[in-house]
Amino acid sequence: MKAYRFDSFDSLDELRLRDEPDPRPQRGEVLVRVHAVSLNFRDLAMLRGRYPRPCHPGLIPVSDAAGEVVDVGEGVSSFKVGDRVMGAFHPRWFGGEMPSTIQSDSYGAESDGWLCELKAVSQEAIVRAPDALTYVEASTLPCAGLTAWTALTGPTPIRAGHTVLVQGSGGVSIFALQLARAVGASVIATTSSAAKAEQLKALGASAVVNYAEDPQWGRSVRKLTGGRGVDRVVEVGGPGTIAQSLRAAAVGGEIASIGFLSTENPGIDFFQLKTSGASFRNITVGDRNGLLELGRAVQASRLKPIVDHVFAFEDAKAAFTHLESGSHLGKVVIRCVD
Ligand SMILES: NC(=O)c1ccc[n+]([C@@H]2O[C@H](COP(=O)([O-])OP(=O)(O)OC[C@H]3O[C@@H](n4cnc5c(N)ncnc54)[C@H](OP(=O)(O)O)[C@@H]3O)[C@@H](O)[C@H]2O)c1
Repeated sequence: MKAYRFDSFDSLDELRLRDEPDPRPQRGEVLVRVHAVSLNFRDLAMLRGRYPRPCHPGLIPVSDAAGEVVDVGEGVSSFKVGDRVMGAFHPRWFGGEMPSTIQSDSYGAESDGWLCELKAVSQEAIVRAPDALTYVEASTLPCAGLTAWTALTGPTPIRAGHTVLVQGSGGVSIFALQLARAVGASVIATTSSAAKAEQLKALGASAVVNYAEDPQWGRSVRKLTGGRGVDRVVEVGGPGTIAQSLRAAAVGGEIASIGFLSTENPGIDFFQLKTSGASFRNITVGDRNGLLELGRAVQASRLKPIVDHVFAFEDAKAAFTHLESGSHLGKVVIRCVD
């Protein structure tokens, strides 16, 4: 089979395509023919030295994939040849409290990921793909989709009448917009692009604020809610956006802390945090049970993931470059086999 590996994280040129022996499923494993993988900011962050956890070179990158089961090992009872599946982002977090060993499973950083043609994986580390989605679409659910799902469903699920703030037009934010709209919540979005503002409105955002032109966008968002603030902030900007997110959040609202897209880090004012009246929750994608729930929600609501561009397997480097350009809206996908 063919597989990409990052020989080092010095540059994208270190992403090399190799011929490798086909993996064989061991006891309890299935062999997946990988049809599509989707990229996430973390795949770039590793390359640019911005990933907040250790990354080991030499591994197959990319955490998110969908494909078809083509062989099963001894003792496999949950899947059969021909099943359409998606990989779980955390292959050994099934539900409940996050295991302390979670880091050692991190695809692309600590273990081989999915940018390859065939992968042998535990039957516990995959779930069925929703019937209504193509492989390309299903490949976008394991990280970006599930992260948005976790941000909106825990501990107080977002519902009709709530307002959600999403930041920018990347994979997590667009899923959060779609999932919030699916339950009848209002969505306010931010973006740095006038063209994307129109696309965000077309996807259901009731208002869009340009964060590049309006440095006090948190206040503007609060104004748009009549001064009450938003019930949930899908916080993907991190250190450079948290102060504005606190301004935008309602008393009793929640900042779901997800990302670290911003490069500046001015620090957090403790008193702003204390007096905001909002709570702060750290999100680490979500567990396998959450991915199953998301799959059912996608199927029931007929949600179609927004795929910005699909690259051929041979053009994997161009997919990384496209993601890094920030010109995408939604997800960037690589088709591994047809
Ligand atoms: N903790 C977790 O569980 C978890 C899970 C998934 C992702 N993440 C993190 O969440 C973040 C988003 O991931 P992603 O894969 O969705 O990213 P992505 O698709 O690469 O998002 C890129 C978009 O984000 C927007 N953006 C960039 N800088 C921004 C800023 N300073 N403020 C507001 N928006 C900004 C831009 O939108 P415009 O062009 O519209 O301005 C850009 O196009 C990343 O930091 C990622 O590592 C964390």
